[in-house]
Amino acid sequence: MGKRIMLLLLMVVFLGVVTTTSFAVNNVTYDHRALVIDGKRRVLVSGSIHYPRSTPEMWADLIQKSKDGGLDIIETYIFWDLHEPVQGQYDFSGRKDLVKFVKLVGEAGLYVHLRIGPYVCAEWNYGGFPLWLHFVPGIKFRTDNKPFKEEMQRFTAYIVDLMKKNNLYGSQGGPIILSQIENEYGNIDSAYGSAAKSYIKWAANMAVSLDTGVPWVMCQQADAPDPIINTCNGFYCDQFTPNSNQKPKLWTENWSGWFSAFGSPIPYRPVEDLAFAVARFYQRGGTMQNYYMYHGGTNFDHTSGGPFITTTYDYDAPIDEYGIVRQPKWGHLKDVHKAIKLCEAALVATDPVYSSLGPNLEATMYKTDSGLCAAFLANVGTQSDATVKFNGNSYQLPAWSVSILPDCKNVVLNTAKINSMAMLPKFIPQSVKYNLDSSGDIASTWSWFREPVGISKTKTLVKPGLLEQINTTADKSDYLWYSSSIIIKYGESLLQNGSQTVLHVESLGHGLHAFINGKLIATRFAPTGNHKISVDIPATLNPGKNTVDLLSLTVGLANYGAFYELAGAGVTGPVSLRSSNGGLTLDLSSQPWTYQIGLKGEDLDLSSGSSSLWDSSSFPKNQPLTWYKTLFDAPDGNDPLALDFTGMGKGEAWVNGQSIGRYWPALSSPDSGCTDYCNYKGPYKSNKCLKKCGKPSQELYHVPRSWVKPSGNVLVVFEEIGGDPTKISFTTKQVGSICSHVSESHPPPVDMWNTDQTGKKSVPTLSLECPSSNQVISSIKFVSFGTPQGSCGSYAHGTCRSLQAQKIVQKACVGARSCNIGVSVATFGDPCIGVKKSLAVEAICG
Ligand code: GAL
Repeated sequence: MGKRIMLLLLMVVFLGVVTTTSFAVNNVTYDHRALVIDGKRRVLVSGSIHYPRSTPEMWADLIQKSKDGGLDIIETYIFWDLHEPVQGQYDFSGRKDLVKFVKLVGEAGLYVHLRIGPYVCAEWNYGGFPLWLHFVPGIKFRTDNKPFKEEMQRFTAYIVDLMKKNNLYGSQGGPIILSQIENEYGNIDSAYGSAAKSYIKWAANMAVSLDTGVPWVMCQQADAPDPIINTCNGFYCDQFTPNSNQKPKLWTENWSGWFSAFGSPIPYRPVEDLAFAVARFYQRGGTMQNYYMYHGGTNFDHTSGGPFITTTYDYDAPIDEYGIVRQPKWGHLKDVHKAIKLCEAALVATDPVYSSLGPNLEATMYKTDSGLCAAFLANVGTQSDATVKFNGNSYQLPAWSVSILPDCKNVVLNTAKINSMAMLPKFIPQSVKYNLDSSGDIASTWSWFREPVGISKTKTLVKPGLLEQINTTADKSDYLWYSSSIIIKYGESLLQNGSQTVLHVESLGHGLHAFINGKLIATRFAPTGNHKISVDIPATLNPGKNTVDLLSLTVGLANYGAFYELAGAGVTGPVSLRSSNGGLTLDLSSQPWTYQIGLKGEDLDLSSGSSSLWDSSSFPKNQPLTWYKTLFDAPDGNDPLALDFTGMGKGEAWVNGQSIGRYWPALSSPDSGCTDYCNYKGPYKSNKCLKKCGKPSQELYHVPRSWVKPSGNVLVVFEEIGGDPTKISFTTKQVGSICSHVSESHPPPVDMWNTDQTGKKSVPTLSLECPSSNQVISSIKFVSFGTPQGSCGSYAHGTCRSLQAQKIVQKACVGARSCNIGVSVATFGDPCIGVKKSLAVEAICG
């Protein structure tokens, strides 16, 4: 072989090694302080990204943004129902390409925490279990019985083997450093009696026997058997202690926000509180925490759990549903991570020593004989700011905040003081480009198909009595028709004058459309929190045969709680007809009913857009049970895309045959419960800070860019309750303004501290950066150095302001992608001596 070829080959081998072993982890263990990677204790920051909640085309960018945000680990659940939709038939294609996802994380130089479960909760349909599991003879979920244990072990072993085959465990030089078995079983195990204990022991042994070579965790499982590490989930985990002094303190779910449900307002969590929780955790001995979620993403198709989990799983996470960093959340947390990493050497070298600095005031030192020293000062009070003395120096500590001192002297960050910029995202409406004919009538571009009422398929089931829905459909469709009829004799009291007939229906949920003689007489959805429906519907009967057709539907299967898999759904009765004047009642519950699983349109595969049954004449608006189809050109550019379903009712939509999920803009949240201002000080809970009261929970639905081509895209919509598809529009998500507001008393940015160990020369600095590398700051919308008020998008001058500020900031920023400005009188002069000043800037990127 020639020398050059040898060299080339060597290079190929070398490059190959570089990409697959950008880590070269060989050994992962733990001790009481930390995870130990190749012999080194580590302080680690992790974030959840669930691979099927975005597209493979988005993964590399999401991972890079996670890395840029200071994460060391990406955590994901594994979704059994996606990977084994039919028992024994596996699928790892497209969004399900787990191996590709893990490799991408590894190639970016990050670790992976693989939470196999295989019960995952996650607001995911049926908690991640495939529906067929329910039909395995003799099975009881998540407790000690042979059929369940066999299936759980088989799937877990399958995943572990798949990872091993691809050399993805740390023990093989791959990125996976941790795995989880089960999920928060300790929250519900008491419902399973003594079998819970033996089940969890079995699960632990089973996991360990799979010999991954990296540690296993169980979250919220105080009795997790050795060597499994029990970990904490919650909004705060600083008070948590593992069940053995040989195990490190790990936090597997730090909820960065909360999930949302149709018909409910949207929760959000202020970053000052999230940063406080993170800093408290590391202050009190924690060495790994994971944001659940770091990128929440989208519940495409029928993946959302429930009932009623929205299609968006944005979660108020540091990276938003569309893959854009959420600022200042992402940036402030990045600063927190940097500050904590500056403390890493001291943190892993020793145990914390706590001291009280007064009521609600706590100092923690990590100090070694070799001269390492890092400290955290916390004010856990919710009302008063404090000035504390520590090591002979004086420090200002706002309420509900932690200051981080990597040298036990200089504060590099206070969790309540945000140095990072804010960003105002904007949704820009884009008119849908239809292939309009000369009439210019949008409706003419739509074709439609009316879903027949009642039984329309040849394949049906006739049974006496009312069947539970999930056992009947096996979740093959959201829909189940219950059809029956009744003969009313002429003169029967139900028909007598003055007596209105009432159809009474009781259902386990989640929704119901009732028809008598083919006519819709009621639509009902189970109220939030109580999944049952009980209705009395006025009905008009005719002498002779009357048909009763009930279309029952689910909106995501339950995913949480003991025995959640048995919650059931559908019209389980009673169903009766009675005269409203208290006369005759006819109970229809146990008479023969004909059942049809799913819709005719589903059978015809209308979602793909094909089929010859589409009708183009006399376009019907605001009609229930109607399928619509149109062709459209995608809005130009690469900005993330969403469909705005305002004007539509409830249903599901497909773009080029791919389900973008269930939509339901017709359902608004209650009017009350939201506040204009969320006070981050004080314990957070999921209903503390809510927005969108009295508004639809979700109008915008993410359409991944990779699912559309420039022109000739097919949009299919199944509208259940009635809507006007010509009102559907597109929007693209872009960054509007970038803003920052920094005070003279902010600590200098963490970055500067690192290069200037004295911390004295640096001044508080306002930094702005356009999110994308091909943008520059094109104009400055607002500047004030003095006492400006308000927030990004609505800043206003205060009584004191420097008149040169506009010029100075413009000169420093316009035309550049990023700029840094010292927030001090040295830069701007002093417009009001003796008054504490700040600098607020709003800029536009273009
Ligand atoms: C936890 C669970 C997660 C997720 C979260 C709420 O209890 O482990 O899977 O459901 O709650 O978003």
